[in-house]
Amino acid sequence: MTPPLLAQHGGPDGGPAPAHDFSTNASPLGPPPALLQAVQAADRSAYPDPHYRALRRRLAGPSDDELVLPTAGGAEAIRRLTLAAWLDGRREAWVPQPGFGDYALAAHALGFTVKPYASPADIRPTAPALVWLCEPCNPTGASSASCPPLDGHHVIVDQAYEPLRLQGDAPALPPGAWQLACPNKALGLTGIRAGYVIAPSADALWSQALSLAPSWVLSAEGVALLTHWLDDATQAWLAQARATLRDWAARQRAVLAALHWQQQASCTNFWLARPPLHDTPRRLRERGLRVRDATSFGLPGWVRVSAQPPGAQQALREALLDIQGDNT
Ligand SMILES: Cc1ncc(COP(=O)(O)O)c(C=O)c1O
Repeated sequence: MTPPLLAQHGGPDGGPAPAHDFSTNASPLGPPPALLQAVQAADRSAYPDPHYRALRRRLAGPSDDELVLPTAGGAEAIRRLTLAAWLDGRREAWVPQPGFGDYALAAHALGFTVKPYASPADIRPTAPALVWLCEPCNPTGASSASCPPLDGHHVIVDQAYEPLRLQGDAPALPPGAWQLACPNKALGLTGIRAGYVIAPSADALWSQALSLAPSWVLSAEGVALLTHWLDDATQAWLAQARATLRDWAARQRAVLAALHWQQQASCTNFWLARPPLHDTPRRLRERGLRVRDATSFGLPGWVRVSAQPPGAQQALREALLDIQGDNT
């Protein structure tokens, strides 16, 4: 029997809760108070509207609300759209490398030929394909300027970290692309499984993705989160959060640079870094701190860290001084 392919993620790892968690990309600033209140007041006594009509109208913006599909988070959307693309006859899946592991896992589980790419400019499908773009990209925090025309392919732009873009502007959406939004990370509410996709048109993929959705895919809390996602108050709070994260990221980079860590550029609140000592993730974990080992991204020796508050940075600095000692 083929062993199941399991995803690796930052955040909880089954061990004792770390005192300071640099391994998750979620905003450490927690949810905006008004949105949290709405989530806590969510009516759990009744089913949500199975068609999520009011919610879809709220999220649609200039798009047709029929084209908005609520999902139980980005991870559920990735699995569902991959299956929908398979049922629509696609057999090739293009995924960013390094990139969020679920794209490739979902595709492998169904038997797709998985084609990793380093830059969207390298995407060259040989048949009608499923193409994942992650903008900005997890784990690198990189933003890509452009990709070649991909007419005839199902192109999905995962915008999980768009609300946590700390520098620059989002590139234009490729023509005909789907958008995947999962704001729980920017809202510091990753325990709530809620996201949505916006389809470019009512095409075959849209129809499959709609048919494959479980009834009531989104919980009452998920509806509350998404209902208030585009509120002016939420967006104003988020702009403040980005300013704070920009400052914390700059300070944290200085702490790591002083301790001889190599660091890559990023436009988000997380980035790739290489400690001078190889087993740093394990030794930090023993001291109650967690960073995301990047080996599963194909980057042994590297870790992904997210910007954390000054107190956590101080704890990281002390732990690293202890670990690195005279070795650097
Ligand atoms: C790029 C990306 N997309 C999607 C997800 C899935 O997030 P969720 O299922 O919590 O919405 C994640 C989670 O880490 C992610 O990093």
